[in-house]
Amino acid sequence: MNIAVIGSGYVGLVTGVCLAHIGHTVICVDNNYEKIKRLKLGKVPIYEPGLEELLKKYLKNKRLSFSTSIVDAAKKSTAIFIAVGTPSKKNGEADLTYVENVAGDIARAMDSYKLIVEKSTVPADTGQRIKRTIAMNLPKKFRKGSEVTLDFDVASNPEFLREGCAVHDFMNPDRVVIGVESTKAERLLREIYAPLKPTMVVTDINSAELIKHASNSFLAAKISFINAIAQICDHVGADVLKVAEGMGFDKRIGRKFLDAGIGYGGSCFPKDVDAFIRLSEKSGYHFNLLKEVRSVNEDQKALFVRLIEDKLWIIKDKVIGILGVAFKPDTDDMRNAPAIGIIETLQHEGAKVKVYDPQAMPNAKKVFRDVTYCNDPYALAQGCDCLLLLTEWDEFKKLDFKKIKRVMKHAILFDGRNLYHDQSLKASGFEYYGVGRGMLERKRG
Ligand code: NAD
Ligand code: UGA
Repeated sequence: MNIAVIGSGYVGLVTGVCLAHIGHTVICVDNNYEKIKRLKLGKVPIYEPGLEELLKKYLKNKRLSFSTSIVDAAKKSTAIFIAVGTPSKKNGEADLTYVENVAGDIARAMDSYKLIVEKSTVPADTGQRIKRTIAMNLPKKFRKGSEVTLDFDVASNPEFLREGCAVHDFMNPDRVVIGVESTKAERLLREIYAPLKPTMVVTDINSAELIKHASNSFLAAKISFINAIAQICDHVGADVLKVAEGMGFDKRIGRKFLDAGIGYGGSCFPKDVDAFIRLSEKSGYHFNLLKEVRSVNEDQKALFVRLIEDKLWIIKDKVIGILGVAFKPDTDDMRNAPAIGIIETLQHEGAKVKVYDPQAMPNAKKVFRDVTYCNDPYALAQGCDCLLLLTEWDEFKKLDFKKIKRVMKHAILFDGRNLYHDQSLKASGFEYYGVGRGMLERKRG
C-alpha cells in the first residue's frame, strides 16, 4: 500500500521504516528540514538499535522516501499516519496543536479517499476532532454547506513500542489496536498489518485511544507500586529484588515492570500520566490513584538525593560521577530523564558533577551546565567522592571496580537502578547503596 507517515521522530520514523520493511511504499514527512535532509542521506538522527540499517536498505530500493511536503505525501498515499508530538501543556493536558495543524494540512491536500490514522498518543475524543478538522478544511469543491462529498475515514492505531527496542517491538507487537468506524478502514488497517500476523483488537475510536492511555498509566502504576514497596523494604530490612521475584512468579502479576529505582522518565509515561489525569478530571472523575502514582515517582528521585545527602553529609564541593544520564538504556533520549532532576539538585547544593553515558552525551550537553564530560567510566571515576549509577547500560555491568576504586577519592556507589544485584561490589571494597535493598538505617523525614 502507499502510505504516508507525518512526523519522523521516534515513532514516525520507526513506523515508516518498519512499514517499508513489511512491503509497503512509504513517504515519511517532517517539517524539520535539517532532519529530512539527513534522513535522505540515510542518517538516523536518534540512537535506536537496528534502525539505520533498515532505513538505508529501503531508501536504496526506493520503498522508503522522505519529504517536507504533506501535500505531496498525502496525494500519493491511501493511508496517512499522524505521528507528531503531543507534548504536555503547563496544566498537564495534552497539547494537540501539531495534530490539528497536520490534520488541516492533510485535508487541504485531499482529492480522493484517504484513511487518516492517529498514531500519536492522544486523549479520547481526539479522533472525532480530527474528523471535524478534516471536514472543515477539505477543498471547497468537496464541501456543500455542512455536507462533505469526499469519502474519508479517521482511525486510531496507538503505538506501544519502547525506545531502545523500537524496531523489535514494532515487528513483534503483543497486539495491534485499531479503533475504526467503517469496514473499509478496518479492512485497510488489517491489510497494512497482515504481514506481521498480529493479534488484532478492533474497537471504536474512543476505546482505542483510551487503551493507550490506560496501558501506559497501568505500567507507570506498576513501577510506582514496586518503588513504594522498595521504600518499605529499606525500612524493614527486606530486599525489593527478592520481593519482585516472589511476586513476579504469579502469572497474574508478572515480573516485568517491577524494577525499583529512581522512578520512570522518558517522553511518554510522565506526559501521558499527566494527560490522563487531566482527561479524567475534565470528564468529572478524580483519578486519585493515578495522582499517587505520579507523586510516588517524584518522591523516588527526592529520596535518592536524600540518601546521598545522608551518606555524604556535606554535598558542597564533593565530586560526584554520574554513570548514565539517558532515561533508560539503549537510547540517547534524555527527555524527562530522572538524571536531570537529580543532577540539578546536587549541583544546586554545590556538588561538582562529572558525567559519562555511552550514547546520550550529545543530548546531555544540551541539558546540563557546568558539568565535566568524560570519555569512559574510568576517567569519570578519577577523583570522585562517589559514583551514582542512573542508567543501567549493559556496559556498566562489566566494569572493573578494582580499577575504579584505585582512582576514586572514596569508593562509594549509589546504584539508582539496582544493577549490581550481588555482593561483588562490596567484595571490591565499595560502600554500596541500592534502592530498597534493606540495607539502610535512614529515617524518612
Ligand atoms: P518526536 O518529537 O520524536 O517526533 C515528532 C516529530 O513530528 C518531530 O520530528 C517534529 O519535527 C514532527 N512534526 C511536528 N509538527 C509537524 C508538522 N506540522 N509536520 C510534519 N512534522 C511535524 O515524538 P515521538 O517520540 O515520535 O512521539 C510522537 C507521538 O507518539 C507522541 O504522541 C508520543 O506520545 C507517541 N508515542 C511515542 C513513543 C516513544 O517511544 N517515543 C511510543 C509510543 C507512542
Ligand atoms: C513506554 C512503554 O513501555 C511503551 O509501551 C510505550 O509505547 C511508550 O512508553 C510510549 O507510549 O511512548 P518507553 O518510555 O520507551 O516506553 O520506555 P520503558 O521501557 O517503558 O521505560 C519507561 C521508564 O520507566 C524508564 O525511565 C525506565 O527506566 C522506567 N522503568 C521501567 C522502571 O523504572 N522500572 C521498570 O520496571 C520498568
